[in-house]
Amino acid sequence: MKRAAAAAALQHLPEAGVVGLGTGSTAKIFIDLVGELVRGGRRLVGVPTSKASRAQAEALGVPLLPDDGPFEVDVCVDGADEVSDGLDLIKGGGGALLREKIVNFAAKKNLIIVDATKLSTRLGTTWAVPVEVARFGHAATAAALARFGRPTLRLRDGAPFVTDQGGLIYDVATGPIDDAADLERALDAVPGVVETGLFVGRADVVIVATPDGARERVRAR
Ligand code: 5RP
Repeated sequence: MKRAAAAAALQHLPEAGVVGLGTGSTAKIFIDLVGELVRGGRRLVGVPTSKASRAQAEALGVPLLPDDGPFEVDVCVDGADEVSDGLDLIKGGGGALLREKIVNFAAKKNLIIVDATKLSTRLGTTWAVPVEVARFGHAATAAALARFGRPTLRLRDGAPFVTDQGGLIYDVATGPIDDAADLERALDAVPGVVETGLFVGRADVVIVATPDGARERVRAR
């Protein structure tokens, strides 16, 4: 299903232009397909949203913009961990939420590719909200985050997971969220918070793959 979603995204790509390259297992399949297009002569340039996506795209021979920006992205294609009825998102399961949000904001069009397991009526029902925090004082930041839900320091192999920028991640178990925009603003206001995995109003099109094929949902404006 992830492959079906990634393949369906290809029809949204320009003949020539700049493409945001998401992070995660679904985006990884998409990047492989972009590599095939580039090998076939398509003039696409990528903006990767993580070190992993950069390494993958480089290995495939996809030309890339430098990390410094500025970026003028025609279309960004990325995955998500949870998609609400209103097409708001929780992202950051792969820990790349900061770069993903920067590239998302630099894109004229944002396309999200998911399988149907990611759909839920209200954000926070199936996923905790990933919050990237600065290392300095992270336990103090976590104490402040506890107002919004139970924060758990993300670990990998028993040690704190470290983001591409050297930050840490707390996954904040909020439960179903009443107002995601309000929560995003409140989390952003906590000193030490670098970025949150709430993407409110940031998906233009969501491609949902089901066993019966991929279907598109377009955000109402
Ligand atoms: C990474 C992300 C991913 O897009 C999200 O975790 C979905 O990943 P997958 O496609 O592997 O389910 O936000 O930070």
